[in-house]
Amino acid sequence: MSFEGKVALITGAGNGLGKSHALMFAGLGARVVVNDYGTTVQGAGADKSPAEAVVDEITGKGGEAVANTDSVESGARLVETAMDAFGRLDIVVNNAGFLRDISFHKMRETDWFDIINVHLNGAFKVNRAAWPYMREQNFGRIVNTASAAGIYGNFGQVNYSSAKLALHGMTQALAIEGQKRNIFVNTIAPAAASRLTDTVISREQTAALRPELVSPLVGYLCSEESSQTGGLFEAGAGWFGKLRWERSRGVTLKGEIKVEDIAANIDRITDFSNAMHPQNIAEAFAPFGEAMGAAVSER
Ligand code: NAI
Repeated sequence: MSFEGKVALITGAGNGLGKSHALMFAGLGARVVVNDYGTTVQGAGADKSPAEAVVDEITGKGGEAVANTDSVESGARLVETAMDAFGRLDIVVNNAGFLRDISFHKMRETDWFDIINVHLNGAFKVNRAAWPYMREQNFGRIVNTASAAGIYGNFGQVNYSSAKLALHGMTQALAIEGQKRNIFVNTIAPAAASRLTDTVISREQTAALRPELVSPLVGYLCSEESSQTGGLFEAGAGWFGKLRWERSRGVTLKGEIKVEDIAANIDRITDFSNAMHPQNIAEAFAPFGEAMGAAVSER
């Protein structure tokens, strides 16, 4: 696998997963924009040294990289760095982020908006600035970084879970818009030992959960070889899997429907035996169409 000739922008690449992705892409021949605002785990402060240290590490190994130390909230500036330094941008990995964990009844508006602004709005701003270049060159690969907290929910992470699952909504719709222009967009939900997990993961688990065990999936999804788009992948400790929607077979009720009818049918409505796996909005709407057809033919 070679990324010779490709330019990759990795956000939050001064530490953890982003650093691992940046080193991998550079090692495979890509020219890399190493973005990092240099915040604490709670999103405070700014420090240029994490991004600069990763650039030094890449160039020290003979690779090509430049630092960008803006916040992802200034998405266009990150893309400008890629254009100024390398004249193109092929790959964007939206990875930057931090945590502001707190139970919902204590959550302040700033805990909500700070998380949404970086994880979700930051990815929007970077993707929006990169999109015209990707369309123009008929090639683009984007990976948005979600989280198990977004997919399954997690205590104390209403802000973070909301931002993370919203990122997959962005992925799914962007994948549809990008398909014809060879722009493929996917989401990953990683598990890796990093500053973010230092307080909850033991040293033994840390060894098994190296970020380097996630990066190859990102590399594949960003390759010319991959035809994956709109997907949601989980990865950690060397395990890789893909998620999809599952919907119960459901039930069509006829005539005037009362609350009692739902109560009488709730077991059938929530029965996942013989479940469906709609892959797009047309497949998802099919049962409505069938129900409408049945209603019309009854008249
Ligand atoms: P990390 O704390 O090691 O690295 C995140 C980097 O993002 C830091 O270097 C930080 O300075 C940077 N950053 C924060 N705000 C920024 C901003 N506004 N602009 C640019 N850079 C900014 O964390 P880790 O674990 O490597 O996380 C990377 C991504 O993976 C995050 O989006 C995180 O939510 C996600 N994730 C990580 C998991 C894990 O197990 N480590 C689990 C699920 C998701």
